[in-house]
Amino acid sequence: MNSRTGFGEASAYAHPNIALIKYWGNRDAGLRLPVNGSISMNLDGLETRTHVRFSAELSADTLFVNGAPAGASDLARVAEFLNRVRRLAGSDLRAEVQSENNFPAGAGIASSASAFAALALAASAAAGLHLDRPALSRLARTGSGSACRSVPGGFVEWRSGARDEDSFAFSIAPPDHWDLVDCVALVSTGQKETGSTEGHALADTSPLQNARVADAPRRLDRCREAILKKDFFALAEVVEQDSHMMHAVMMTSRPPLVYWLPATLSILHAVRKWRSDGLSVCATIDAGPNVHVLTLRDSAGEVADLLKATAGIQDVLVAEPGGPASLIRG
Ligand code: PMV
Repeated sequence: MNSRTGFGEASAYAHPNIALIKYWGNRDAGLRLPVNGSISMNLDGLETRTHVRFSAELSADTLFVNGAPAGASDLARVAEFLNRVRRLAGSDLRAEVQSENNFPAGAGIASSASAFAALALAASAAAGLHLDRPALSRLARTGSGSACRSVPGGFVEWRSGARDEDSFAFSIAPPDHWDLVDCVALVSTGQKETGSTEGHALADTSPLQNARVADAPRRLDRCREAILKKDFFALAEVVEQDSHMMHAVMMTSRPPLVYWLPATLSILHAVRKWRSDGLSVCATIDAGPNVHVLTLRDSAGEVADLLKATAGIQDVLVAEPGGPASLIRG
């Protein structure tokens, strides 16, 4: 830490998360205030590690992702985020940011959630700010909405809130509350055509979005209750319905967003069949073609094997509930 400026360096890590009740659409795109609340689970074993160093010797912010200089649009997004940190800290020092993911780019796991949660923690600590968890979650939200849910640990709820101050995520149950497992079936590892920032802006062009948003409090209640009671089949019903509602909105937007590939649909059918055969299994899909197949720890090996034997699946990643974003000391 530079004693004259109070600025220094810090490292942090955060896990990505899978939304069980999805966020799709903003009421304020600049602040990323969502039109509906959401619920997610952090994914243990998968993480972004980020190091931030503020220095008077730098004339501009720099960003390296997995050791390579980032492209202009990613750098601009991070620089804008760092501006928020600088405003909070009352400084104009530039920063060097190095970020590494231990999961493949384009793996169908949004790295923006873990990336902005880790960046919020590392950058605020490097800037000498001591933000509490809600403030950290709010800061992460301004980089990527779902990043606010990667700040607390375990099973997490993000209440939409009406203003910046009350739109943050908090833990509703710790990681060891329930042995839910996410088997991520990778159908395609290519870059997606339309990123979520652009996608959120299209949500309102679908006539189905109002109905999806109006019904969100019911789905949130059912999902929260299913998690707290560890009722897998209640969770399965609401998780699949919520995912289908979001994709119905996407597919009916102007222009339409169709993220599914043929194998995406094959997996949805297979999962329904396995569930009707008695297996604890359900599926949810984010803004891409890959399918997050949820199950319980006892069935995870069987589900992963079934998925690997399904045509069109390139690989399966397996993740249990993960903890909060954390500083890396020393
Ligand atoms: O945080 P964003 O802007 O990448 O949006 C995430 C959108 C979904 O992944 C599709 C849903 C969600 O709640 O995570």
